[in-house]
Amino acid sequence: MANIIIVGMQWGDEGKGKIVDYLTDFFDVIARYQGGHNAGHTVNIGEKKFILHLIPSGILHPGKACIIGNGVVIDPEALLDEIKVLRQAGVKVEGNLFISSRCHLIFPHYRQLEKGSEESRGEHKIGTTCRGIGPSYQTKMARSGIRLIDMENPSLFREKLFRNISEANSLLESLYHLDPIDAEEICQKYLSLYPLIKGFVIDTSLFINNAMAQGKSVLFEGAQGTNLDIDHGTYPYVTSSNAVAGGACTGVGVGPTRIDGVIGVSKCYTTRVGRGPFPTELVNKEGKLLQERGCEYGSTTGRPRRCGWFDALVARYSIRVNNLDSIALTKLDVLDTLEEIKVCTAYRYKGGIIKEFPSEEWVLEEVTPQCRTLKGWQRSTLGITDYDDLPQLAKDYLKFISDLLEKEVSIISTGAEREETILVDTPFINKWFKDKRGISRQGRET
Ligand code: GDP
Ligand code: IMO
Ligand code: MG
Repeated sequence: MANIIIVGMQWGDEGKGKIVDYLTDFFDVIARYQGGHNAGHTVNIGEKKFILHLIPSGILHPGKACIIGNGVVIDPEALLDEIKVLRQAGVKVEGNLFISSRCHLIFPHYRQLEKGSEESRGEHKIGTTCRGIGPSYQTKMARSGIRLIDMENPSLFREKLFRNISEANSLLESLYHLDPIDAEEICQKYLSLYPLIKGFVIDTSLFINNAMAQGKSVLFEGAQGTNLDIDHGTYPYVTSSNAVAGGACTGVGVGPTRIDGVIGVSKCYTTRVGRGPFPTELVNKEGKLLQERGCEYGSTTGRPRRCGWFDALVARYSIRVNNLDSIALTKLDVLDTLEEIKVCTAYRYKGGIIKEFPSEEWVLEEVTPQCRTLKGWQRSTLGITDYDDLPQLAKDYLKFISDLLEKEVSIISTGAEREETILVDTPFINKWFKDKRGISRQGRET
């Protein structure tokens, strides 16, 4: 079996959790490679709804090894809360969860620093999740970060933490006019939490490379999305890690030649939480309808998600920077009631046409999307599991997107439930997922 990366193609919340959960059966190991508890990956299984933040969605399948890679930043309290919720729901975590000793930690004062930084930006604030993610990656890059394994050596941990907090306090007091942090209190607290986490901590790169050497397959679970990536996203309105497929290798500790393929996950429309340019945003009743029908409220912060039409420039850009092999399109059912559906195929800017996603934030703020209008199918697709059962106009819509992007659509999600999914008979699926659960034949006549 293959080693496959799942990556968000837009601004996060594309339904990665649902797709990872759906595909987990085909893999032995599931690994998260970046981000932290800013992520919220929702998985619905019957009556039960799980929102996973740090732990890979594969944990809901018994017997799968779930890895939190070195590229992930960890708030021990958030991690322990998540473990507790899973245990209460009867999910076995011990023996299935492995956390990299190299993960960097998030501390309470990182949230304070983030608050100060956001407030000082005024109208240019990022609109972060306020989980301390940015400061954790900042200190990591500044080489003043503290790793999970440092807690194994309390005196070294204390020394590093006091130095880290002394720097933070100067910023908090003089720049942001916030109260200083008590280093001793945080030191005691973290050292008291470590014994509860220690049992999960290993060298995950060693584990995963050994597993691969034994022929085991790995599914890499991305968090956030391509346009939130620190290098490739709509900077500065991005998160602080590499959400793109390239981040999987550095974030887990495997070589690039180990990877067999990349699947991009995209909604049939677009959403974004937080600030930043969003060319196809609909600030009207159509946007409201997508928000209501799609239940577009953040799984982590509960903030309403901004909504707009599908943007082919965003999708093509994501295909390029991730070298996607195949696409999973989610939330088809959300479009069911629409008379007309628009798809952005180009941007207009100062009298010209732009066909490639631009890097200038001032251009993105001012472009006007040029859209193709397609007829809506106005029939329920909710829960359809066979491609042939889709209304013809829905097939036309999917074919239009696939042709426009010159990329196969191999997974279609028709509802939030695990089983509300169509696995399409495409070359990529046939190559790696052959002989697995009922592949739905794609109607060639469409
Ligand atoms: P992630 O961060 O990419 O894992 O996505 P989220 O879980 O934050 O947000 C996606 C939301 O859409 C969740 O509430 C899912 O349960 C839901 N969802 C996923 N796929 C579908 C679908 O095909 N149809 C509908 N109606 N909801 C879906
Ligand atoms: P999943 O994995 C959607 C957004 C925040 C903000 C920006 C920076 O569920 O798709 P941060 O707290 O990361 O420094 O915030 O990134 N953001 C997300 N938006 N889904 C996510 O994760 C996100 N994680 C961060 O709203 O705009
Ligand atoms: Mg999410």
